[in-house]
Amino acid sequence: MTPPEIVLGSGEARLLSGPGGREITRWRLNFDLTKPFLKWAGGKQWLSPLARYLAPEEFSVYCEPFLGAGALFFALGPPRAHLSDVNPELIKAYGGVRADVEGVISRLDRVPYDIETFKKMRVSRPRLDATAAVRFIYLNRTAFNGIYRVNRNGDFNVPFGKYKNPTICQRDRLRPAAGALRSATLRSHDFETAVQNADASWFVYFDPPYITGHLNNGFVKWNARIFNWDDQARLAQIATELKTRGTRVLISNADHPAVSGLYESFHHLRIRRHSLVGGKAASRKDVSELLISSFPILDRLPGVRSPVPSERLY
Ligand SMILES: C[S@@+](CC[C@H](N)C(=O)[O-])C[C@H]1O[C@@H](n2cnc3c(N)ncnc32)[C@H](O)[C@@H]1O
Repeated sequence: MTPPEIVLGSGEARLLSGPGGREITRWRLNFDLTKPFLKWAGGKQWLSPLARYLAPEEFSVYCEPFLGAGALFFALGPPRAHLSDVNPELIKAYGGVRADVEGVISRLDRVPYDIETFKKMRVSRPRLDATAAVRFIYLNRTAFNGIYRVNRNGDFNVPFGKYKNPTICQRDRLRPAAGALRSATLRSHDFETAVQNADASWFVYFDPPYITGHLNNGFVKWNARIFNWDDQARLAQIATELKTRGTRVLISNADHPAVSGLYESFHHLRIRRHSLVGGKAASRKDVSELLISSFPILDRLPGVRSPVPSERLY
């Protein structure tokens, strides 16, 4: 049995009963949302227009333990949130933006764009959160493909991106992001620690690094430490425990039978979209990912009458 499928077009989404199946509903997408100020490998900005349908109707705490650029958090703008990531520099950068967004903007405006400055930034180790945010954002906008990668000693080792005229300071994104972050706690730790106190009032969105036969394969080595298959299995076990506690859980992951097999008691939905392969407009390709949830999602979509019999529940 294959799960139902949401097909994302440029301005609208369609829900199909399965691959090439009957169309159940279609609706226009709203892109007028708060957007991330970082580029992030595996970032979910493309999923943001669906955020309001993917969240349960009511929850009091939003938790995102694989924060990255936080696309879903910014799109949802929840009144209370626990945000975390294993990457301490990333979390420090968010703290700096939250504490002093105007200071970050004015410093970013003054940093020249050239390879010498890039190299200096790369080896610098600012102590203050605001200057750490400036360094992090500068490297994010100027390093090759916006990748964040460090070696075993924690040294940033991505080469200069050689962009023609990159926008380094996105004030129109930084200011709303700083506002949204005010309602959040920010921590750097493993995802398991992040959900230790979760209860039935929490909504947890897990967006781990993907690891199986998927385009995002190259994004596995994030921070000197690898997210391996054991981590995937550990995540599935924790998600299952949370489900038992009544916590609402949503997981994005690679569309692969080995992954869906880890979540047998969950709801499964496939999301298909057009994507650039290797950043080349000429090589657009259809890609699909899985959305796995502890609660039914389909009857939250516009135009769907509940319950939808085709939603795949193992
Ligand atoms: C796919 S990205 C998240 C992208 C994010 N949803 C977005 O929209 O940008 C995965 C993130 O997981 C983090 N990560 C890797 N291993 C982790 C772990 N064991 N615990 C917590 N975070 C981890 C990485 O640093 C990375 O930022």
